Amino acid sequence: MKESFDTFTKLISHISVLIMAVVTIVILIFGSIIFIYQGGKLPEFQVDINPPSELETIFPLISEDGIWLPPDWALVNLEPNSELIIYGKELISNTSEYLGPNGKVGQISNGMNCQNCHINSGTMPLGNNYSAVFATYPKVRARSGQIEDIPKRINDCFERSLNGQPLSQSSREMIAIVAYMEWLGKDVPKGETPKGAGLFELQYLDRAANPLAGKRVYENQCKSCHGEEGQGVLRVDGYGYTYPPLWGENSYNDGAGLYRLSRFAGYVKANMPLGSTYQNPILTDEQAWDVAAYVNSMQRPQKDISMDWPDISKKPFDHPFGPYVDGFLENQHKFGPFRPIKEANTSIALK
Ligand code: HEC
Ligand code: HEC
Repeated sequence: MKESFDTFTKLISHISVLIMAVVTIVILIFGSIIFIYQGGKLPEFQVDINPPSELETIFPLISEDGIWLPPDWALVNLEPNSELIIYGKELISNTSEYLGPNGKVGQISNGMNCQNCHINSGTMPLGNNYSAVFATYPKVRARSGQIEDIPKRINDCFERSLNGQPLSQSSREMIAIVAYMEWLGKDVPKGETPKGAGLFELQYLDRAANPLAGKRVYENQCKSCHGEEGQGVLRVDGYGYTYPPLWGENSYNDGAGLYRLSRFAGYVKANMPLGSTYQNPILTDEQAWDVAAYVNSMQRPQKDISMDWPDISKKPFDHPFGPYVDGFLENQHKFGPFRPIKEANTSIALK
C-alpha cells in the first residue's frame, strides 16, 4: 500500500515538473513572438503625451565651444565704477524691492524682477543674457522705427515685460543698470553678438502650436510653481515672487517680447521647467511651442502698441497683431504654422 502511494506521489511530481516545463516553453514562445512582432522593442510603460517629433533638437542646444562667459564677478572691485555696477546687478536681480509695487526707490513696475527672464542676472547662455547689449547698441530697432540706446531698450522692458513706467534716464538706477550691462559686455568686440546671447531659436513645427496640448504640458510641468491660474507665488516679504506670474494682471503685457510665440518657446526650451539649461533642456520642441500657445492665450494686461512697427513690412513672422503685408491672418501669425509665412516673405523680399 505504502509502496503504491510512493509511486503515486512520484508520478504526480513528475507530471507537475512536466507541466511547468510546458508552461515555461509556451510563455517563451509567445513572448518571443510578441517581442519580434513589436519590432524587437520592449513595451513602453511610460505614456508620453507629446512624444518627441522628428524635428527634435539634439542636446545640448549649442556646443560649449566659444560660448560667452561673463567677466569674473570677483574682480568687479577693480573697476573705478564698481559701486554702480554692483548696484546695477542688484537692481536686475531684485527689481521689485527697489521699483516694484512696494519699491523703496519708486513704484513703477509690476513686481517681477528683470532676472525672472534674464536668468542669473543676465549671465546665462541662452537664458536671455545681456552679453550683446554693450556691443550692439545704439541701433535702429524696427519695433520703434527709431535708434535705440541702452536706456531706451531697458525702458522697453520696464514698460512691457514689467508692465510699468519708464525709469528716468538720469536716475542713479538707470545709470547703474547701464554700468552693469557695459561691464558684462566689456570683452565683446563692438558690433558682435556672442555665441549663446539672447534666446534659443527653435525649429518651426509643421503645424500650428496647440493651446490645448499646451494646457496639458502646463498642468504637468509648470503649474506646481506658477500656479493654477498662472498667478505665481509671492515672496513672503512682499518683494517680488518666488515663482513669477505667467498671465493675469501682474504679468508681462501683450506688447512684451515673451508675447511672441518664438520668444516664449525659445525661453522655456532652454530654461524651464526650473533646472533646464541649454545643456539639459527638458521640454521637447513641440511641448515648448504648445505651452507657449497656451500661456499666451490667457488674459494679460494690454498695451497701446499702435505706434509699434511703423514699417509693417518689418514685423516679425510671429507678431500677433495685424495689419501685415503678407496675406496671412492674425491667427496664423500668432500660432503658426510659421514656415509658409517665412517662405512667402522671403519671396516678397526677393522680388
Ligand atoms: C517677462 C520677461 C522679461 C522681463 C521681466 C524683462 N525682460 Fe528684458 N527682454 C525680454 C525679452 C523676451 C527680450 C528680447 C529677447 C530677444 O528677442 O531675443 C528682452 C530683451 C532685453 C534687452 C535687449 C537685449 C539685447 O541683446 O538686445 C535688454 C537690455 C533688456 N531686456 C533689459 C531688461 C531689464 C533691465 C529688465 C528689468 C527692468 C528686463 N529686461 C526685464 C524679456 C524680459
Ligand atoms: C520648480 C518651479 C518651476 C517650474 C516647475 C517652472 N518654473 Fe518657470 N520659473 C520659475 C522661477 C523660479 C522663475 C524665475 C527665474 C529666476 O528669477 O531666476 C521662472 C520663470 C519663468 C518665466 C519667465 C518669467 C515670467 O513669469 O514670465 C516663464 C515664461 C516661465 N517660467 C515659464 C515656465 C513654463 C512654461 C513652465 C513649464 C514648462 C515652467 N516655467 C515651470 C520656476 C518654475
